Amino acid sequence: MDFFSLKRVNDKIKIIDQRKLPEEYVVETLETYEDVYYAIKDMKLRGAPLIGIAAAYGLWLALKNSEGDLTKEFTKAYELLKTSRPTAVNLFWALDRMKNFFEMIHSEKKRGEVVAALRNEADKIFEEDAECSRKIGENLNKFIKDNYRILTHCNAGALATAKYGTALAGIYVANEEGKKISVWVDETRPWLQGARLTAWELNQNGIETRLIVDSAAALLMKKGVVDMVIVGADRVARNGDVANKIGTYALSVLAKEHNIPFYVAAPSSTIDENTKTGDDIIIEERSDEEITVIKGNRIAPENQRCFNPVFDITPFENITAIITENGEFKRKL
Ligand code: MRU
Repeated sequence: MDFFSLKRVNDKIKIIDQRKLPEEYVVETLETYEDVYYAIKDMKLRGAPLIGIAAAYGLWLALKNSEGDLTKEFTKAYELLKTSRPTAVNLFWALDRMKNFFEMIHSEKKRGEVVAALRNEADKIFEEDAECSRKIGENLNKFIKDNYRILTHCNAGALATAKYGTALAGIYVANEEGKKISVWVDETRPWLQGARLTAWELNQNGIETRLIVDSAAALLMKKGVVDMVIVGADRVARNGDVANKIGTYALSVLAKEHNIPFYVAAPSSTIDENTKTGDDIIIEERSDEEITVIKGNRIAPENQRCFNPVFDITPFENITAIITENGEFKRKL
């Protein structure tokens, strides 16, 4: 792949500002934990695994730049980063992993050693995510047949993870194996992750794509030109309910109605054993402007009231299987 989602270059974090794709490929440097907080909050980077990776590096940056008490600085950054977005559990998973690690090491090590150890732990989270994505891709590939027409929603690709993606990882592996795959890309209103990011990254990798408006999915399924649906996840509850980009639930209902397999792909860092069912998942609501303004152009009346939930919950009953790096997720009731 000729692009990256995030990389550490010496003492800095480089990301692509995903708000500017596909027209502009702008690399941005994050130097402080506040930079990371705003990058997540303002969606310069997005996608559950990538948010977690960035937050982990944010905690490293906080201590690298600090001259004060390490525990105080760590806690301040941890608390801020926790508020950057509410739904993707990978954020909290990565922050807690870093916190446990910090608590284990900080009393025995010198300041510089603590900072270096945190950087290494964040690097590990990055590397492990890349490995997970590869394995998810290999596991998903077993369900993908030659000439499959796959429908995907939002962006669960390389741009949303350390590498490869989750839903798109299966497509990349199938393509590498010589299977001919074509992808129906839902544009994914309102933020257009499908049109701007998924179409871009699949095209970059030579995969055949057709962009559709979200409401075209029903027609395509009825016509029999969708062989399978694959989406990612932001949080999987213990009972197997899945939070993912708004519109995913509707797709699952359509897929069930038309007998089309509906797969969810996610690393185990997206599984939240502490959340019993989908009803317990907080659904992020974002600004009205995401709906009413497109690239600076108003498409609805001034001061139009809106409702903009950006995730929804797909019940486990609508899902054929949830595929992780360890194979199929077994839900607990
Ligand atoms: O609002 P976003 O763009 O962060 O939402 C992303 C999604 O819903 C993805 O499907 C999910 O995070 C999985 S990414 C591998």
